[in-house]
Amino acid sequence: MQINSDRFLADLHALRAIGAAGVGKGVVRPAYTEADVAARRWLAERFQDAGLEVAVDGMGNLFGLTEGPSLLMGSHSDSQPEGGWLDGALGVVAALEVARASREAGGPAVSVVSFQDEEGRFGVTTGSAVWSGHLSQPEADVLTDHAGVALADARAAMGKMVTGPVDPARFTGFIEMHIEQGPTLDSAGEQIGVVSDIVGIRDMKVTFEGQQNHAGTTPMHLRKDAFQAVSAFNSLLEERFRNVVSPATVWTIGHVSLHPNASSIVPGRAVFSMQWRDGDSDRLSRMEAIIRDTAQQVAQDRGMELSYGPLLGLDPVKMDARLRGALEAGAEAVAPGKWRAMPSGALHDATNVSRLMPVAMLFVPSINGISHAFEEDTAEEDLVAGVEVLARAVSALG
Ligand code: GLV
Ligand code: MN
Ligand code: MN
Repeated sequence: MQINSDRFLADLHALRAIGAAGVGKGVVRPAYTEADVAARRWLAERFQDAGLEVAVDGMGNLFGLTEGPSLLMGSHSDSQPEGGWLDGALGVVAALEVARASREAGGPAVSVVSFQDEEGRFGVTTGSAVWSGHLSQPEADVLTDHAGVALADARAAMGKMVTGPVDPARFTGFIEMHIEQGPTLDSAGEQIGVVSDIVGIRDMKVTFEGQQNHAGTTPMHLRKDAFQAVSAFNSLLEERFRNVVSPATVWTIGHVSLHPNASSIVPGRAVFSMQWRDGDSDRLSRMEAIIRDTAQQVAQDRGMELSYGPLLGLDPVKMDARLRGALEAGAEAVAPGKWRAMPSGALHDATNVSRLMPVAMLFVPSINGISHAFEEDTAEEDLVAGVEVLARAVSALG
């Protein structure tokens, strides 16, 4: 099959224009926002042009389907609140190009997907989590974003695009191409990463409730300051994790909402996101116990109330040996000596899809290892090399 790299790059840039923002090639296209829905409409037209049947399930997962059984390829087209042009979009447009090129060459049948809310406006990879049965629709519908909007209300934005459920049994496997989003390939001067496994994640909201009060008149020893509680919790946690974590373990407090968030008011409430990731499920559990103990101690010491949101998460998964082998053979042909097998520290829809069928993933480098930021970028020759590897793998698997 013959990849058309000009057509592929033109599509990638056209998708970037929908929700373009910030410096460089930045994109703001969170799930179910106007830009996200517009991008899905645009993709649906491209799927149709490619002779694929458009289907959208109740969550807003967008499929371009072949007739009969097929390999499924794709990723997601929603972005972080401040995102780059490639995170997710690359995997969808690369899949579209391979599907088109394969049809033109009379090659294996390839269907395409853009999962919804991979970036977790409402949780952790919510679109593929529901499609794979990891989360039920009613469980997902009550999840809220940081502004308090419920997923049930947000997904109404998909409106008339929704056609109905898509049966996973029609697919023989799933391949997702993605940018690495870390520094490994770029710093080694390599072009391709074939993913060996994807780390696990846990994520939950934590709330400290103290006493809102006057910032000038309330003596320090009488305060129940919710920000001070978050600060103490963060420092204590770092100490307590020390004997449990490995150099590959990561944890993040990425969102903090202080109430009422004013200079002259001792904050009465802090709600924050607590997220941790590791390749070992047991370690994730040990970290959860430490998080809960530490928060409990901080709340008790300061006479504050403590509560938690639902614990969301995904366990680590291994890639399928056969699909991975096809990607490795493609990588060796396209980028001899310039590829490696590597784990994924970022989360991907492939984790959820692995509950349903064999999955594999392919990485291309992220310049300076930057992602989840407007500056995210990859050399165009690396993007094209990745699509060439996919094409070879699909032909070999066909
Ligand atoms: C997905 O973007 C993640 O947070 O790893
Ligand atoms: Mn992504
Ligand atoms: Mn992402």
